[in-house]
Amino acid sequence: MLRMNGVCVTAVDDSGSKEILNNVTMTLENNKIYVMTGPNGGGKSSIAKVIMGIFQPSGGQIFLDDTDITHMSITERAKLGIGYAFQAPARFKGIRVRDLLKLAAGGAKIDQCQLLYDVGLCAQDYLDREINSTFSGGELKRIEIASILARNLKVAVFDEPEAGIDLWSFQRLTETFEALHRKYDTTIVIISHQERILRLADEVILISDGTVARRTSHEEFLGEISMIDKDCLCKENCIKGGVTNAECSR
Ligand SMILES: Nc1ncnc2c1ncn2[C@@H]1O[C@H](COP(=O)(O)OP(=O)(O)OP(=O)(O)O)[C@@H](O)[C@H]1O
Ligand SMILES: [Mg+2]
Repeated sequence: MLRMNGVCVTAVDDSGSKEILNNVTMTLENNKIYVMTGPNGGGKSSIAKVIMGIFQPSGGQIFLDDTDITHMSITERAKLGIGYAFQAPARFKGIRVRDLLKLAAGGAKIDQCQLLYDVGLCAQDYLDREINSTFSGGELKRIEIASILARNLKVAVFDEPEAGIDLWSFQRLTETFEALHRKYDTTIVIISHQERILRLADEVILISDGTVARRTSHEEFLGEISMIDKDCLCKENCIKGGVTNAECSR
């Protein structure tokens, strides 16, 4: 179980400081799929980064079960079983796919062919290929997802796994999330804007303006989305704060 209690994140750059997460409080249970969605710039990836330890909170606390992980490093959190597949994965240059998966598994027994199959890649074509600039964005994204699947995680966060992924692999990926859910006790967090992914959710968490705007079932959430006036130009604002048509001028 992952618990965030009043978590705030302040980013500081040349133009000054800016609060990008504001009082994020939520409990995520084991063996559940949560889909985080919401407007661009709302704070979804920042929540993933503060869970992984890439961002350090300026306030609040984060617990994994009963352990306070608020000030732990990325490595410490990874050891405890937290994993994050980035929205835009880094390029691990000069390492074979087979070795990357082995490294990710950290000594645990894995079926590398199955892992690649799970993300829609053919093992024969990829296992011995060295990762370099010849990989497409979608291939890299899927290899990174496979490296997260290689670990038996307590909390796995996938940031827009569908981004840049073709329809066939996307179908395989949704089945993989379902299988992961059936097989393990993992808390699965998927950041997504895709209806097919939203349908996998035990709970949809709407993130807006750097905080949790609302938690709801996917049936309720998708029902409300379908009610939004198709011609309305302010669709994003319409669901802001979880209130349908809140700022719609029509
Ligand atoms: N390192 C940073 N420094 C300054 N501002 C940042 C930083 N990281 C994120 N932000 C800002 O914080 C806000 C939330 O960003 P975040 O990436 O979490 O949004 P998101 O909900 O994931 O959006 P998207 O749907 O586009 O991926 C944005 O306004 C973004 O510009
Ligand atoms: Mg994002």
